[in-house]
Amino acid sequence: MSAESAELEGPDLTQGVALSSLAEGEMMLGHAHGEQLILTRSGQEVFAVGAVCSHYGGPLASGLVVDDTVRCPWHHACFSLRTGEALRAPGLDPVPCWHVEQSGDKAFVREKLQPAARRPSVAGPTVPGSVVIVGGGAAGNAAAEMLRREGYDGRLTMLSADQSAPYDRPNLSKNYLAGSAPEEWIPLRTAGFYQEHAIDLRLGVPVAAIDTAIRQVRLVNGERHSYDALILATGAEPVRLAIPGAELPHVHYLRTLADSRALVAAASVSKRAVVIGASFIGLEVAASLRARDIDVHVIGRERCPMVKILGNEVGGYLQKLHEAHGVTFHLGTTATSIDAQSVVLENGETIAADLVVIGVGVRPATALAEQAGLAVDRGVAVDQYLQTSVPGVYAVGDIARWPDPLTGERIRVEHWVVAERQGQTAAGNVLGRRRRFDAVPFFWTEQYDFALAYVGHAEGFDETEIDGALSGHDCTISFRRRGRKLATAVVHRDLVGLRAEVEFEKVIAQHRGKPRNGEAS
Ligand SMILES: Cc1cc2nc3c(=O)[nH]c(=O)nc-3n(C[C@H](O)[C@H](O)[C@H](O)COP(=O)(O)OP(=O)(O)OC[C@H]3O[C@@H](n4cnc5c(N)ncnc54)[C@H](O)[C@@H]3O)c2cc1C
Ligand code: FES
Repeated sequence: MSAESAELEGPDLTQGVALSSLAEGEMMLGHAHGEQLILTRSGQEVFAVGAVCSHYGGPLASGLVVDDTVRCPWHHACFSLRTGEALRAPGLDPVPCWHVEQSGDKAFVREKLQPAARRPSVAGPTVPGSVVIVGGGAAGNAAAEMLRREGYDGRLTMLSADQSAPYDRPNLSKNYLAGSAPEEWIPLRTAGFYQEHAIDLRLGVPVAAIDTAIRQVRLVNGERHSYDALILATGAEPVRLAIPGAELPHVHYLRTLADSRALVAAASVSKRAVVIGASFIGLEVAASLRARDIDVHVIGRERCPMVKILGNEVGGYLQKLHEAHGVTFHLGTTATSIDAQSVVLENGETIAADLVVIGVGVRPATALAEQAGLAVDRGVAVDQYLQTSVPGVYAVGDIARWPDPLTGERIRVEHWVVAERQGQTAAGNVLGRRRRFDAVPFFWTEQYDFALAYVGHAEGFDETEIDGALSGHDCTISFRRRGRKLATAVVHRDLVGLRAEVEFEKVIAQHRGKPRNGEAS
């Protein structure tokens, strides 16, 4: 046995495994041909796929098998057991897949299969000759990749105001800012990827206007691009604080890679930071700056951090967690001015700071949609197929407000996985697949050793129930409104989170076809 294979866990699956030892839906971690893989059974079929998620390397053996797919415990990527294809973001690449032979009462892992290929070329009168995607973030990138995976051969252009090719935005406030993720981890794709897939990625080219009558977009630099189908994925922009001193050079916002680079550079020479905003970005930034041993004060309008999204108990716990890591909170107040050495609060209190980070929320970047005359209602209004009020124009990600199949309400969220999945769904619909967007919303946050995953969407919840111990970082939190469960959050209970997702999917499936709150089915 080689030194490499000695580190592999579980049995050598090329030697055969008794079928009786493999219960339906359960996974066996083993290895074959020097690689770690999982063996699982669905009905009469036995599957073998790679054990490591292609997103951040999550352990698929600790995930959940649902029909002929496996879901990752960390951020709920979903892979086909038949082909290894990454069916749902945030996994974008397939996992390897092996041929399994059943002989007698045993299953043997044989040769590796070819990676999931792109689907055959699509053509026909409903397939657009050219697609333009406005936005090179989570949703835009996922849409472009999926168009090619779905067999689209036409002209495909992605126009991004950002100077950087699509990157892992959630990491910007977490490991990258903390200094534990090198910059090589940040791009979603290699430089050659877009060329290889004939995706004409244009960077640093803000789109100024869209003319839906002649199907053309105009860039700020005057260039024009015609399209047959358009996907709008312009994301969101940080809300700017209009207080004296907010434009000073040591005051930072965090949305782009350039923002994060500037913040990292500033953090390396700063000693005292004030973070204005006590929600996700503010708290993640606080935790990352503490990892750099910077003194951190957090200012928040709310009396309890993240109370609107996670409730009093979780918010209160997070506050204590940050305090235990040395963060000082100033809640129920806001900053009224900033100067080179300090931040002044409403009550006149002055906090010394040589670095200020403002994270007071974002606004969907809907200016283009408004200019183009698309229906806008606190976000770009889309139907269940993510199509806007203008046929052939789709809107996805942070800008989109869509009918939530769970409640029938129109919702807009700012989650990475939702943005990517919407991009993927819209890509299919551009090609005429008529797929409803009915994925259950999912987000995660990480602060110190506290990791929370949230499934569903519970705006305006009136009840929370906690099963387990927040302090032990081992619990499930249910969010209800008028007695109805709308979301589940888990802290280090990945499998419970995955099962909650499946439960919500079942509810959606039951609703399917029934008109809800005036929505057409
Ligand atoms: C620091 C940070 C940490 C986060 N952490 C998490 C997390 O842990 N979990 C989670 O679920 N979510 C997280 N989010 C939210 C998540 O990143 C967003 O929900 C997601 O990026 C939205 O994707 P999007 O494609 O809609 O927008 P974006 O990713 O913002 O992309 C928008 C793109 O549109 C471009 N654009 C805008 N206007 C124009 C124009 N006029 N012309 C051309 N291009 C334009 C922009 O340059 C950009 O390329 C985080 C966000 C930030 C900023
Ligand atoms: S590591 Fe698997 S989904 Fe993120």
